[in-house]
Amino acid sequence: MKALVFHGPGQTSWQDVPDPSIKDAADAVVRVDAVTICGTDLHIIKGDVPEVTPGRILGHEAVGTVVETGGDVRSVRPGDRVLISCISSCGRCRFCREGHYGQCRGGGGWVLGHTIDGTQAEYVRVPFADLSVHPLPSAVDSYDAVLLADIFPTSYEVGVLNGKVQPGDTVVVVGVGPIGLAAIATAQLYSPGRIIAVDLADSRLAAARELGADATARADEQPEQLVEDLTDGLGADVVMEAVGVPEAFEMCTRMVRPGGHVANIGVHGKPATLHLEDLWIKDVTLTTGLVDTYSTPMLLKMMAAGRLPAASLITHRFELGQMEEAYDVFSRAAETGALKVALGGPRHDTLTVQTPGK
Ligand SMILES: NC(=O)c1ccc[n+]([C@@H]2O[C@H](COP(=O)([O-])OP(=O)(O)OC[C@H]3O[C@@H](n4cnc5c(N)ncnc54)[C@H](O)[C@@H]3O)[C@@H](O)[C@H]2O)c1
Ligand SMILES: [Zn+2]
Ligand SMILES: [Zn+2]
Repeated sequence: MKALVFHGPGQTSWQDVPDPSIKDAADAVVRVDAVTICGTDLHIIKGDVPEVTPGRILGHEAVGTVVETGGDVRSVRPGDRVLISCISSCGRCRFCREGHYGQCRGGGGWVLGHTIDGTQAEYVRVPFADLSVHPLPSAVDSYDAVLLADIFPTSYEVGVLNGKVQPGDTVVVVGVGPIGLAAIATAQLYSPGRIIAVDLADSRLAAARELGADATARADEQPEQLVEDLTDGLGADVVMEAVGVPEAFEMCTRMVRPGGHVANIGVHGKPATLHLEDLWIKDVTLTTGLVDTYSTPMLLKMMAAGRLPAASLITHRFELGQMEEAYDVFSRAAETGALKVALGGPRHDTLTVQTPGK
C-alpha cells in the first residue's frame, strides 16, 4: 500500500510500504476512506515530537471501513464504517478505567502516527479496536465524522471543559486553526458572554468570526490591549492556547483575569516561561492536557443531529494520493486559506474484503 512516511525533521514521502496486518487478537485493520492532517503533524515534521522516529507512518485522524478483525474483537466486523479515534484505549489500566484514555499505560493512548504507524495511509492497524473505533450512524458523513477523531474532542475537553467556560464568560482563544475554531464552536455550548479570537493569519480570524467569535485581533497588533479594554481592565475569564509556541502561551498568561483559567491545548516543543512573579498573586488555574476522547460519543450524537459546524471547517479536499500536496496547502494556511484539509480514497461501491499482507 501507499502511506505518508516520516524520515526525520523536514522530510516525509508518500511511498510504498508493507500492508498492515493483525498483530494482536484485539486489533482491527481498517481501510482509510477519509483522513486529515493535524497541526500536531506539522509539529512532528518540525521535530517538536522526538518520540516519532524515522520510518513512522503519520496520521491519527480517519474514518474508514473495517476489513479484518482479530479473534477478540466483538464490537465491529468487516464492512463496518468506523471513526478511528486519535486515542486508543486498552480499557484495563487504571487511567482507562477512569476515562483518562489519553494517559493509557496498557499500550493505548496517543499511539497512532506517534509510536505506531498511523492513518495517513491506505490501510491502518488499529489496536484495541473495541474501544478505539466508533461505528458511525448512516446519518453522519465520513468527511464530517473525521473531525471527531481529534479536533472536536480536543477543543471541547482540553479547551472548554478544562478551562471551565461558564455562562457570561469572556473567552479568548489564541490560535484559531482547526483546533481553536472548534474551541470557539464548542465554547458556545456554555453561552459565554463574548469570544475573542487571536491569530496571525487574517483568513483564520475571518473563519473565527464566521464560527461565532465576537471580536478578533492579530497576535502582532496588541491583542492584550483589546482584552483589557473589553473587560474593564480585568482580563479574560478563560484563555485557551491553541498554537504550541512559547510566545502564544506567555501571552495567554498575561490575558487572564485574577481567578481565571488558562487552558493549554497546543503541543509545545520548546520551554515557555511561566511568570510566577506576576501570576503567584492572581489565583490563576493553569491546565494542560492530551485529549482523552471521553466526549466523542456525545459529540457524535450532536453531529448526527446537525448541531456541530463540521462542513465549514473542511476547506480543501484531495485524493488520498495527493498527500504531499495536501500537506503543502495545510502548512501554508495563511496564504491558502486552508482550515482542515481532507483526503479520501476512491469511492468503493462494493467492498472487497482482502487479507492484508497478501
Ligand atoms: N492537546 C492535545 O491533545 C492536542 C490535540 C490536537 C492538536 N493539538 C495542538 O493544538 C494546536 C493547534 O492545532 P491546529 O490543528 O489548529 O494547528 P494549526 O497549525 O492549523 O493552527 C495554529 C494556528 O496558530 C496561529 N499562530 C501561530 N503563531 C501564533 C502566535 N504567536 N499567536 C497567535 N496565533 C499564532 C497560526 O496562524 C494558526 O492559525 C497545535 O499545537 C496542535 O499540535 C493538541
Ligand atoms: Zn491531532
Ligand atoms: Zn489503558
